[in-house]
Amino acid sequence: MSSLDAILAGKYPAKAHARRVAGYLQERGHGGSGVIYLEAQKTRLIEDNDEAMPFRQRRFFYYLSGCLLPDSRLTYDIKSDKLTLYIPPIDPDEVIWSGLPLSPAQAQKQYDVDRVLSTTEVNTTLASIASAHNGKAVAFAIADQISDDIKFQNFAETNLSALKAAIELTRIIKDGYEIALLKKANDISAKAHIAAIEASKTATNELEIYGAFIATCIANGCTEQSYHPIVACGENGATLHYQKNNDNLVDSVTKQRKNNVLIDAGGEYRAYCADITRVFPLSGKFAPETRQVYEIVLQMQSECIAELKDGVQWEDIHALAHRIAIKGLLKLGILRGSEDELFEKRVSVAFFPHGLGHYLGMDTHDTGGNPNYDDKDPMFRYLRVRGNLPAGSVITVEPGIYFCRFIIEPFIHSPELKHYIDTEVLERYWRVGGVRIEDNIHITRDGYENLTTAPKAIEEVEKLAL
Ligand code: GLY
Ligand code: MN
Ligand code: MN
Repeated sequence: MSSLDAILAGKYPAKAHARRVAGYLQERGHGGSGVIYLEAQKTRLIEDNDEAMPFRQRRFFYYLSGCLLPDSRLTYDIKSDKLTLYIPPIDPDEVIWSGLPLSPAQAQKQYDVDRVLSTTEVNTTLASIASAHNGKAVAFAIADQISDDIKFQNFAETNLSALKAAIELTRIIKDGYEIALLKKANDISAKAHIAAIEASKTATNELEIYGAFIATCIANGCTEQSYHPIVACGENGATLHYQKNNDNLVDSVTKQRKNNVLIDAGGEYRAYCADITRVFPLSGKFAPETRQVYEIVLQMQSECIAELKDGVQWEDIHALAHRIAIKGLLKLGILRGSEDELFEKRVSVAFFPHGLGHYLGMDTHDTGGNPNYDDKDPMFRYLRVRGNLPAGSVITVEPGIYFCRFIIEPFIHSPELKHYIDTEVLERYWRVGGVRIEDNIHITRDGYENLTTAPKAIEEVEKLAL
């Protein structure tokens, strides 16, 4: 068993998470006695059909339970430090179709909770917690995530605002078990990225590459995708979140295979996400223009990653990526002018329009980033994380350079900015589409740990694609 699998053979640290969330609430003035109440996602049927909708566990519930069962609930009595999981009772009609559900005794062995009861016992347990605290306890829950049958009787107060924010902020800093889950998701996704490159050699359509990625994820234990994969050949790579994944790899006019494929895809492992982007050539070797752009993006990424450590200001790293992009595009002749002027005028935003990265965890765009989408500065508007990165956080570093007509043309037509872009040189680069390289980075006290193992060195990628 690998050391990673040995860690993951243990229980998800639900109790430690409950304590951290309670501690956070207490630090913010919610002292005294209280109970945290959370519900799992419910089993929901498709609107006009008797099949269940695809299930995705509520992350708030999972964080304090490690339980992927639908229709479950939990309470955490803060003062007595007692975490209780409630699972649905046996429904004899359902057993015919689905077999026996997990028993409370089995659940007790599997999850890091103090006891397991039936969901029929939630209200009596809540009532006994309230009376144990003489009606002085506060019930913390999340608005719109409380079933109609739940009664917070004899609690001094029901607080529906503090808990969600407390969990969102607590989630920023990952513990060792969570890092192991993210590594596992990354290891499996790296296999899937390699399988996607292998599949591209005989593929005629994006769909075959997309299928190879998902098949490899599932076969290795990532039964869900972190997000809808992006498999974009040629100019499709200029659409940041391209979703169709069904275009032909051969250009209909030139009858040639397109230059390259951008694949942004990651498997989800036990509710933890990988988020990885790679670009590879379709003919075994990068076209010269793609290779030039790839080298710039790789430099943006490696120099930014090298700066990462506890407390670093994310805006500074994002700005550094822009400076490297500007230098690279000046060298290619696509941009004209001085580096400082291009930076001040935000011209590089035409080619790198999104933020450098986001927190990663149970959500691909994980909680706690404190973005400011109303920022008037176009260079920082889409930055999903603002401020200092703490040790223990996990962030994506995903610089890109794109040749998207919709985004670049307003710059070319702007009287103030058009002289900064050489349209004749630019003409040769539209076919590149887009290059983005994305890794998942764990911030540590003195530096960082790169969780992503998918190949990205040019020689390595070309060898796989040949
Ligand atoms: N895959 C979505 C993103 O990178 O943000
Ligand atoms: Mn990302
Ligand atoms: Mn991504």
